[in-house]
Amino acid sequence: METIRVNIPGHEYDIRIERGILKKIGEECDFNRRVLVVTDKGVPREYAETVAAQAKQAVIAVIDGGEEGKTLDAFARLQQVMLDNSFSRKDCVAAVGGGVVGDVAAFAASCYMRGIQFYNIPTTVLSQVDSSIGGKTGVNFGGVKNIVGSFYQPSKVIIDPEVLSSLDRRQQVNGFAEAIKMALTFDAKLFEDIEAMDASDDMMPYIVRAIDIKRRVVEEDEKEAGLRKVLNFGHTLGHGIEVSCGGRLLHGECVAAGMTAMCAPEVRDRLGAVLRKFGLPESADFDLEHAAAAVSHDKKGNGRVISSIYVPEVGSFEIRDMSPEEARERLELILRK
Ligand SMILES: NC(=O)c1ccc[n+]([C@@H]2O[C@H](COP(=O)([O-])OP(=O)(O)OC[C@H]3O[C@@H](n4cnc5c(N)ncnc54)[C@H](O)[C@@H]3O)[C@@H](O)[C@H]2O)c1
Repeated sequence: METIRVNIPGHEYDIRIERGILKKIGEECDFNRRVLVVTDKGVPREYAETVAAQAKQAVIAVIDGGEEGKTLDAFARLQQVMLDNSFSRKDCVAAVGGGVVGDVAAFAASCYMRGIQFYNIPTTVLSQVDSSIGGKTGVNFGGVKNIVGSFYQPSKVIIDPEVLSSLDRRQQVNGFAEAIKMALTFDAKLFEDIEAMDASDDMMPYIVRAIDIKRRVVEEDEKEAGLRKVLNFGHTLGHGIEVSCGGRLLHGECVAAGMTAMCAPEVRDRLGAVLRKFGLPESADFDLEHAAAAVSHDKKGNGRVISSIYVPEVGSFEIRDMSPEEARERLELILRK
């Protein structure tokens, strides 16, 4: 059992990590009340059922999976289910799924009766290592990702490594790209250890160390006024690739390719070796013009200057302003020849 305490003033909470913890979640969370268990169609149903069975009164809500399911409609449906089942301010929401379920369910919890308690039970590598920690919630709207949402910290995050066994290898590695990102920007020793591991090794010890990096970052900068922006390393170009690759690549795969063009040559060589080991892409097939336009209109951009993260040395970062022309040149470096 591992416990990581997140000390955000006024919103402290524990991240509990243990094999099989799902089966005793009733001991971990206050489930002696109504619990809305939110999951999606792609998450094995048994996980939500295991959680629901331990609550005094549970309702399971299944949203559509994927980015298309991350909508105000899904948010509204969750409000309706809570209303129909007479949820009060003392009841709670539990997300059982990946980042999509977590983001929508947390947003719903943050708004119902102006905020009821929320537990996150992430079931993908990406959500365990990244999205379940730090309190960003939201849905996509008007064609823009995560544009409507709130900051709302969970009461607890419950991580059961066993749930990753049903996740396909591509999804596992996709999430691990975010752990590689955290090591590359904040922790040279973790990056060295990832370099030394075999691709088939248990990812969990590395995931736990990456979670601790995320904890430190969100403790220092809860609302992304500064340091938290470093977690966007690889995401600026990655976003351009994601919207212009015709849906062929997953988010973490785009971030992986996006990172390669944002570091010093020696760092790029070492990163490339790690990405190849895990089967993550160093380059990608995408529409350059479309990607360049998306990057310069990115909401993270500020007028004609694009704020981006550059890694001069493993375990460090620089915040750099990039012109749209430079962004295009860097995207060209990633374009598969
Ligand atoms: N809130 C944040 O800070 C934050 C940070 C990073 C990403 N995100 C968001 O996270 C989302 C991506 O999350 P994701 O990568 O987890 O994707 P996801 O939630 O879409 O899950 C990926 C797929 O795996 C399935 N799945 C989930 N758990 C499973 C399991 N244990 N076994 C088998 N299948 C399973 C899902 O049904 C889905 O089809 C994006 O919407 C992104 O914006 C949020």
